[in-house]
Amino acid sequence: MGTVGKQSPLDELIRTIRIKHGTDFSRYRKSCVGRRISHRMSMLGYQRMDKYLGYLKENPNEMEQLLNVLTIHVTGFFRDNSVFETLAKRIFPWIIDKKLSCGPGSVRIWSAGCSTGEETYSIAMQLVDRLRREKVKLEVEIFGTDISEESCRIATKGVYPEKKLEDVPRLFRTRYFEVVEEGYGIAPEIRSCVEFKVHDLFSPPPYLMLDLIVCRNVLIHFNQFSRNRVMFNFHSALDEDGVLLLGKSEAVTGGGLELFELINPRNKIYRKRVHSSCDKEA
Ligand SMILES: C[S@@+](CC[C@H](N)C(=O)[O-])C[C@H]1O[C@@H](n2cnc3c(N)ncnc32)[C@H](O)[C@@H]1O
Repeated sequence: MGTVGKQSPLDELIRTIRIKHGTDFSRYRKSCVGRRISHRMSMLGYQRMDKYLGYLKENPNEMEQLLNVLTIHVTGFFRDNSVFETLAKRIFPWIIDKKLSCGPGSVRIWSAGCSTGEETYSIAMQLVDRLRREKVKLEVEIFGTDISEESCRIATKGVYPEKKLEDVPRLFRTRYFEVVEEGYGIAPEIRSCVEFKVHDLFSPPPYLMLDLIVCRNVLIHFNQFSRNRVMFNFHSALDEDGVLLLGKSEAVTGGGLELFELINPRNKIYRKRVHSSCDKEA
């Protein structure tokens, strides 16, 4: 009886983060969370998690350092370029046709877990350029969200060092960036159709009636139960026939398969199923 209810140091640490910061890392893959915390501990010379927990409780600044280690923000413009080619060749034409045949209405896209904004701006450049070339007039609304306030701040600023632009097509570089004091700023034409917001994917979706949700390299960090929950949120945020794009090493699994059908296996593109059992229950 004595040990019933006793938490491991890792569980205790996860609980402390949730109470003090609000982010619930019990929804993430435990092995990864444990590994990253051990990494942070060894950086500070701690071998025992309970000792590190004491340090975390006594040093408020350590929480931010730990959160930076726990959430990975690696991203880039036109990351996995073949995905952007598929968006341009297959998905955008389909969305544009759908919008034009349904009368007035904007194209609505959510880049969920967008880190510092490069993914969101890449989608915007690709779509705005297509509309310009085809001389199609459609309103475009692209939303970028991330749990990290700092990432959203950088994304909203939209200024990047030259090195970050390496994978941006030359034409887009000249057309959609302008030289500013600190590097390259996103041009107003792109900025005006993009907005960023801090949002936790486990909260109800902040946008509805979406044509496309792009959520790449985020779900891979969550456990299966939590992925199902996020899939449910995405399903309710998408318009009928809406499309979901995941990262190359991610897939819809478990309960999510009732909500989405795979339409492009190579690029992990799914379409919302409209008559899932979940709709029937609602
Ligand atoms: C590796 S980055 C992916 C960035 C971009 N999607 C890409 O593929 O280039 C993962 C992002 O997911 C964000 N993230 C992690 N947990 C999240 C959550 N619960 N809600 C929203 N964003 C989250 C992290 O802050 C991080 O910026």
